[in-house]
Amino acid sequence: MPTEDGLSAAGVRLEVSGAVATITLARPERRNAMTGRTWTTLAHVGHALPDSVRIVVVKGEGGSFSSGIDLAMFSPEGAEGEKPLLSTLGDGSLDQAALVETIAGYQEGFLWLRRPGIVSIAAVRGHAIGAGFQLALSCDLRILADDARLCMKEPALGLVPDLTGTKPLVDIVGVSRAIELCLTARTVSAEEARELRLAEAVVEGSALDETVDDLVAGLLGTPAEAAAATKELLLQAPDNTLEEQAEAERRAQVGRLSALARTMRG
Ligand code: CAA
Repeated sequence: MPTEDGLSAAGVRLEVSGAVATITLARPERRNAMTGRTWTTLAHVGHALPDSVRIVVVKGEGGSFSSGIDLAMFSPEGAEGEKPLLSTLGDGSLDQAALVETIAGYQEGFLWLRRPGIVSIAAVRGHAIGAGFQLALSCDLRILADDARLCMKEPALGLVPDLTGTKPLVDIVGVSRAIELCLTARTVSAEEARELRLAEAVVEGSALDETVDDLVAGLLGTPAEAAAATKELLLQAPDNTLEEQAEAERRAQVGRLSALARTMRG
């Protein structure tokens, strides 16, 4: 697990309480802007979490979820303690292949949130911009406060969304709406997010924590192995044919029934 100092330098706080891990983006003075170090640290957290953790809640400190990439990453100096992205690429000290590897490392910080053994929940207040929106999209479930504002800002900055957000966005809203949202970089209100199915629920800001706590309690009511097997099954469904999915259901159920039979035999 990253050290307290490592987490703090990455602008991340981590609390693990029983089966629930809470990751808080903790740079409120920068509206929880994230750097490359934030993402590689999130990847370390994901790899190091104990198997006993079943729920991961991701939230931001203060009134914003996250303002996205720390814009200092694009400055000639770079973010504190990190290589500047553009000038190192421009002067040849970072080649394209190395940058591809670097981005792959950043993406690791987002990818693990989908793994079957956990359910990840983004609790979003205020702005979720660019990488912040992609982080929320990387979670299985999104609960929004009514002041939430989502924006895929990357194309407006001359970039593409590259932190694993394009697939969930298209899966949820469809290609046409995703094109419209990304290429206008417009801000989506909490209300519209609910209509677009980008939010499982929208609640008053004062009720966000309690709503997430209730959801966590509901999720923990299901046995861990059945929850993981069901999530694995559901994740396959969009890419499977009906026949493939039916076969996957059969295989998963045989696994579950066998486990239950073993339990009965003691
Ligand atoms: N990076 C660095 N600093 C940021 C920041 C960011 N992304 N967002 C906000 N800050 C800083 C501001 O510069 C300001 O600093 P000072 O107090 O030193 O002036 C401080 O945080 C507070 O910001 P605001 O006064 O602007 O706060 P606000 O509540 O009025 O507005 C906001 C909040 C709408 C998020 C606004 O700050 C904003 O638009 N920020 C920039 C958002 C942005 O463009 N992010 C990049 C998205 S693209 C992306 O993420 C790319 C990628 O992955 C490849």
